[in-house]
Amino acid sequence: MEQYIIKGGRPLTGEVMVGGAKNAALGIIAAAVMTDETVKIENVPDVKDINYMLQAIEDIGAKVDRINKNTVKINASKINTVNVDFDYIRKIRASYYLVGALLGKCKNAQVPLPGGCNIGSRPIDQHIKGFEALGAAVKIEHGLICANTDNLKGNHIYFDGVSVGATINTMLAACMADGLTILENAAKEPHVVDVANFLNSMGANIKGTGTDIIRIKGVPKLHGSEYSIIPDQIEAGTFMFAAAASKGDILIKNVIPKHLEAITAKLLEIGAQVVEFDDAIRVRACGKLGHSHVKTLVYPGFPTDMQPQMTTLLAVSQGTSIVTESIFDNRFKYVDELSRMGASIKVESNTAIIDGVDKLTGATVWAPDLRAGAALVIAGLMADGYTVVEPVDYIERGYENFEEKMQQLGAAITKIDSEDIKAIRKFKLKVG
Ligand code: UD1
Repeated sequence: MEQYIIKGGRPLTGEVMVGGAKNAALGIIAAAVMTDETVKIENVPDVKDINYMLQAIEDIGAKVDRINKNTVKINASKINTVNVDFDYIRKIRASYYLVGALLGKCKNAQVPLPGGCNIGSRPIDQHIKGFEALGAAVKIEHGLICANTDNLKGNHIYFDGVSVGATINTMLAACMADGLTILENAAKEPHVVDVANFLNSMGANIKGTGTDIIRIKGVPKLHGSEYSIIPDQIEAGTFMFAAAASKGDILIKNVIPKHLEAITAKLLEIGAQVVEFDDAIRVRACGKLGHSHVKTLVYPGFPTDMQPQMTTLLAVSQGTSIVTESIFDNRFKYVDELSRMGASIKVESNTAIIDGVDKLTGATVWAPDLRAGAALVIAGLMADGYTVVEPVDYIERGYENFEEKMQQLGAAITKIDSEDIKAIRKFKLKVG
């Protein structure tokens, strides 16, 4: 099994470049199949979840040309099936965007129920509500979401809860429905806006994204486009926290500081320094950081995808902190792993009560999901001695060149096979 081995105690310094937003890219790649013309997408992150999604659309007949690592051309004029039933597509949550996209274009879709990170129960009732309101018949059969209709018709839809996935999915289908669709209680996350901007660049008529009411006038056809995906808010936030945790000083480039405001506010509150530039952000910290109360919320609140990184940082901050997870119901699994490193955290229902300790000590820890995996790497950067984080698969699903970027910032981290004793010895000799 592949694992990261980290020797803690080195402050991160230097510059790092953030890649394109994974969660926007997943929606955008699904949207790309809605036109018969070619689309060119830039700033596509080269991570496993994206590559699974590209494979899935290729398997239903789309032509996918990877011009370079982060640019892809897609032509979906020859899609030959609406049944996206492949093993790898089951692994990713966002496979469900192919329901909205294919329903919009072909009025028919069959896609496996989504997999993805195991962070609690993840129903799709609001996606189904959206499709049904547009006139589709939706049923779950043999593990597939099957949706079809003769004709999609615009409607007024009020979501019962704020869902990024349901907002994007319904928006995809509604783009090619007859007439006007109004989505109320819509998600406002930057990646919802980015998917809408991409659809608009293809000739869709979507207004109001970034607010909780989105208005979509259906169009009969979408056309080709060239588009560059926004920077990844969570990758940027992860490096911001890694800088503060390691008492480092780093410049994070290719970011939209506005998208990072909730993260910046928390770092400032606990005593780190954050300086914003047009498209970069500098984070530095020295000495002990302070405690905080944090509650995850929908955008522009503090993102749930930064919750494990925040809890990890607070584990070695002064005083008692409280982190409340209000989006997912089982997102504290990594806390047991932090405890193995000496953290003092008690989880009660959806709240973690953290008593800051002086230091963490290296241990072998298990990464239960993507963001928790990144948080455990941050814990390793802070800990005395060696930390082993395994497996790396989850982390690689969402972070491009994670260990290379960390190495570039001076972290003592490498990826090795757990069986490769020689490589482990070599790393230890090298980093001392
Ligand atoms: C997306 C992100 C994920 C992020 C999450 C919240 C992608 C691929 N993933 O996930 O990284 O953590 O937003 O910002 O973009 N819910 C329902 N019914 C539904 C849909 C959702 O009850 O039909 C609930 C979920 O269980 C959860 C909450 O709504 O409690 C928010 O989920 P949602 O915003 O849909 O998250 P995802 O789109 O799955």
